[in-house]
Amino acid sequence: FTVQNQTVSESCPSNIALIKYWGKYDNQIPANPSISYTLNHCKTNTTVEFSANETFSVQTFLAGNEEPKFAAKIEKYFTNIEQYLPWILKGKYVIRTENTFPHSSGIASSASGFGAIAKCLMNLDEIFSGKTSEEESLRKASFLARLGSGSACRSLYNGLVVWGECQVKESSDLFAVQYPNDEIHEIFKDFNDWVLLIHEGEKSVSSTVGHGLMNTNPYADRRFQEARENFGPMKEILAAGDLPRFIKLVEHEALTLHAMMMMSDPAFILMKTGTLEVINKIWDFRKETGLSLFFTLDAGANVHLLFPNNGSEKTIKLFIETELLQYTQNGGVVKDMMRF
Ligand code: PMV
Repeated sequence: FTVQNQTVSESCPSNIALIKYWGKYDNQIPANPSISYTLNHCKTNTTVEFSANETFSVQTFLAGNEEPKFAAKIEKYFTNIEQYLPWILKGKYVIRTENTFPHSSGIASSASGFGAIAKCLMNLDEIFSGKTSEEESLRKASFLARLGSGSACRSLYNGLVVWGECQVKESSDLFAVQYPNDEIHEIFKDFNDWVLLIHEGEKSVSSTVGHGLMNTNPYADRRFQEARENFGPMKEILAAGDLPRFIKLVEHEALTLHAMMMMSDPAFILMKTGTLEVINKIWDFRKETGLSLFFTLDAGANVHLLFPNNGSEKTIKLFIETELLQYTQNGGVVKDMMRF
């Protein structure tokens, strides 16, 4: 390879898991497979300025403000991935990143952030080490993103994305793959994800600590097995367009993630009062109307409201605006969607 001064820019969306990744082994190997939707609007835009043949260092700016803590994390990450990108320590980096969604909204900025950085690195790699096919390059970007933040590897692909060895074709623990498009019913290809910002502060327990606590959780093995088993029904549901079973499975996965937190030692709870109020309101609404509004949760208090564009979305949006916004901290809702 030969390095030279370069500036590259990339953009990468966040994702929301339907079957959750929670618990991992060394080297970011997931304890169970997961599947997520890649969002359409919530993205990180990143520019990497590389100055060749200078002492290795990293400076980062988030929305124009210098972030030395993030820089230290990236420095460590770059050192870790040198075996896959042999040129990576041969220069100085200035990395500017901005999110198109509010900071600490509980929308995974580590997923979009590491996704965007991995794409930038693959751009540089093609310039310095020679071109590979687009497919190879994406796969390597997913592989590299995984080493930054596990769930980030799923953000490299659009639509429904699987990470972790399971019954899905070509699935791997090392990188994510797109779920086969011709095995997905149309109903799942035009969906909404509205994120209610119940609580906007820092979460009390990071996902790194949360994953670690699965090592001593007495229910962990059963949980890992269940997640693997859930791919059976999930495949049937996606092919058949079976919304009622989809709703049941996705909500079960979200509650299981939080149940695992409660059964950790020490125990922790990331849901807030508003989270529970919203869940109960959604269940009441479904009972009364039969309409397909349901939820998933990430590792935080905010509620992802999922609903398809199948003719009922107008009624559902009105219900959210009039009945659910009251549980948010500042009327905050991020409206995203998945269309593919
Ligand atoms: O990628 P991490 O290490 O931040 O883990 C994220 C885990 C969850 O967001 C809770 C679930 C998932 O599969 O995205």
